[in-house]
Amino acid sequence: MTEVNPDEAVPEEQPAYKRASIFRNWISLSGVIVAFGSLFAFMLLFAIDMMTGHSNPYMGILAYLVAPVFLVIGTSLLIVGAVIRRSKIARATARGELLPKEVQLTRRRYKKDLVLFAVGASIFLLLTAIGSYQTYHFTESVVFCGQACHEVMKPEFVTYMHSPHARVSCSECHIGSGANWYVKSKISGAYQVYATAFDKYPRPIKTPISNLRPAQETCEQCHWPPMYVGNLDRTYNHFLADKENTPYSVRLSLKVGGGDATQGPIGGIHWHMNVNNKIEYYAADKQKQNIPWVRVTNPQGVVTVYRTEEFQGEPEASAINVMDCMDCHNRPAHIFKSPNDAVDLAMSVGILDSSLPALKRRAVEALTAEYATETEASQKIATELNRHYGDDPRVGSTIDAVQQIYSNNFFPEMKANWQVYPNNIGHKDWLGCFRCHDGLHSSADGLLNIKADDCNACHTIIAQGKGEELNLLAPKGLEFDHPDGDFLGLTCSDCHTGALQ
Ligand code: HEC
Ligand code: HEC
Ligand code: HEC
Ligand code: HEC
Ligand code: HEC
Ligand code: HEC
Repeated sequence: MTEVNPDEAVPEEQPAYKRASIFRNWISLSGVIVAFGSLFAFMLLFAIDMMTGHSNPYMGILAYLVAPVFLVIGTSLLIVGAVIRRSKIARATARGELLPKEVQLTRRRYKKDLVLFAVGASIFLLLTAIGSYQTYHFTESVVFCGQACHEVMKPEFVTYMHSPHARVSCSECHIGSGANWYVKSKISGAYQVYATAFDKYPRPIKTPISNLRPAQETCEQCHWPPMYVGNLDRTYNHFLADKENTPYSVRLSLKVGGGDATQGPIGGIHWHMNVNNKIEYYAADKQKQNIPWVRVTNPQGVVTVYRTEEFQGEPEASAINVMDCMDCHNRPAHIFKSPNDAVDLAMSVGILDSSLPALKRRAVEALTAEYATETEASQKIATELNRHYGDDPRVGSTIDAVQQIYSNNFFPEMKANWQVYPNNIGHKDWLGCFRCHDGLHSSADGLLNIKADDCNACHTIIAQGKGEELNLLAPKGLEFDHPDGDFLGLTCSDCHTGALQ
């Protein structure tokens, strides 16, 4: 049966056809199903994401990248089908043959086609729904964030698994909730997939991450800033790099205090918390290790600016940071232990036997050497330790322990280790607190309150040394008895780098 299209002049002898009918072929129709399926998947993913309140970065890849790709595929199929059919029609017309059969779903005669189409489409949409939902769940998991892009995220994933936050999901710190960040994370998530696929990512991954969300919206969702901590008693166990691995420990009472008067006296280290006082700073370098300018606004609104002597201008407004948790706790989840700290820890708990002569030095040396891959590191660590302790029955377990430290904290393929990620919580291996408390920052009214050599201001040294010495507590605080003697005029991190001094 032919219909005459009144808009087109169809020659009498040729069978007429509707222009739109070029879409009535199986290829174009499958294109329509795929396109609808992707739209459907997009809406579903979007709805799930809105309803669950929090989001994950890879939802964006699914909703804004994968779904649209299928939309494009669907549309392309639609066009390809139409082009093929049009050329078939043209050929048939030229030769005066019968036109190719068209798929017509609305006619009774084609009921079978309609049923086929409906069943096919339903199965496809159902599978799309199940598929998108499952994929969504997968991308939310820590497994996906930490392991799907295995090599890229391995350093962060492994260190995270050994951190106090091992049970907090990546997205709770890196995304948080809310529409604005949600979209930002989509964009950067999509970029990350591109960077991974085309090997465009930097090694190591750079920090600080420029779009890391402020602590108020991540950390402070779990940690209540007004909380009063008071004093924390911590012992730092070390071993010297001499033949005897001489133990040296220092026990500190850290004056963490608090920043909210309803919970306890305001003061101590958490005085900086954003609750009562506002602290802003300008960093001259990307890694925020050089801070020449600090501004404090107290609860009465009085503003004080501290500067180093070299820096006399005013920083640009856009370069001013508001101090938050992460300016001190910048490594809460990805703790790359330095060789010095990792070996000290293993020795203090007995995983490494401190009676093996000069083991502290040898182990730190083996860990600090440059290796191209983890396999190479493993082999060379074994060779090196065998050379020194080959005759000792403890050599096997010693090698295992050092290799374990290496694989937990060193990632040569990504060039990631303690050296590339400054840790700002203390002041021994990095400037940390001494970025501001170095005795070089002053305002019109005088020096910034606490200077680096006020050793009992941020903490009280309540015991130090080894053995019995550690049981002689001095609540008033001791003068620091540095194992290597005086270090006049130098800052700890001038000598201490996390490796051997
Ligand atoms: C407790 C919060 C928290 C959790 C949980 C967390 N991160 Fe991070 N992450 C951070 C902070 C803070 C930084 C910025 C560090 C800095 O500026 O020095 C960071 C940095 C990173 C970096 C940049 C490289 C680096 O090491 O600094 C990557 C990549 C990263 N995180 C991935 C992950 C992955 C993957 C997970 C889950 C397996 C995860 N993060 C879990 C807080 C977290
Ligand atoms: C989803 C909740 C959650 C988020 C988000 C979170 N934390 Fe935590 N954090 C915890 C829990 C739970 C612990 C306690 C772990 C334990 O005691 O086993 C903890 C422990 C800590 C500790 C003490 C660790 C130690 O070494 O004693 C610090 C410091 C800390 N978090 C800082 C942060 C910072 C900074 C951020 C933001 C980058 C953050 N947290 C984000 C839940 C969270
Ligand atoms: C001026 C630096 C600084 C700032 C800013 C800061 N902290 Fe701390 N915080 C410390 C230090 C130092 C400790 C002592 C523990 C240590 O040395 O690891 C500590 C301890 C903690 C602990 C462990 C308490 C315990 O009982 O074990 C938590 C949790 C914590 N901080 C969370 C936060 C949160 C959340 C914020 C932001 C609202 C924050 N801190 C801001 C320096 C800081
Ligand atoms: C960005 C600069 C900056 C950094 C980094 C910084 N502080 Fe401060 N801190 C200040 C300023 C400014 C003050 C107020 C000084 C004044 O009042 O003269 C202050 C005050 C303090 C006080 C006295 C609070 C009170 O009771 O009045 C302590 C304790 C302290 N800081 C410890 C630390 C520790 C520990 C760290 C490292 C974990 C640290 N600070 C890192 C800027 C900084
Ligand atoms: C601005 C505050 C501040 C001042 C001033 C300060 N410290 Fe500390 N110190 C800290 C904090 C915070 C930590 C805890 C770091 C951590 O949790 O890893 C620390 C840790 C230490 C440790 C243990 C580090 C380790 O890994 O063994 C020693 C030792 C120490 N301080 C000695 C000193 C001496 C000596 C002085 C004076 C020359 C001094 N501190 C001045 C804040 C300060
Ligand atoms: C002039 C260089 C120099 C300066 C500055 C310096 N140290 Fe040391 N420190 C050494 C040397 C050398 C040793 C002995 C290392 C060994 O035998 O392992 C040592 C040992 C230590 C140890 C025990 C062993 C270890 O590796 O942890 C601690 C803790 C320590 N220093 C803390 C500090 C602190 C805190 C400061 C700053 C307040 C500081 N040092 C400043 C050179 C220095």
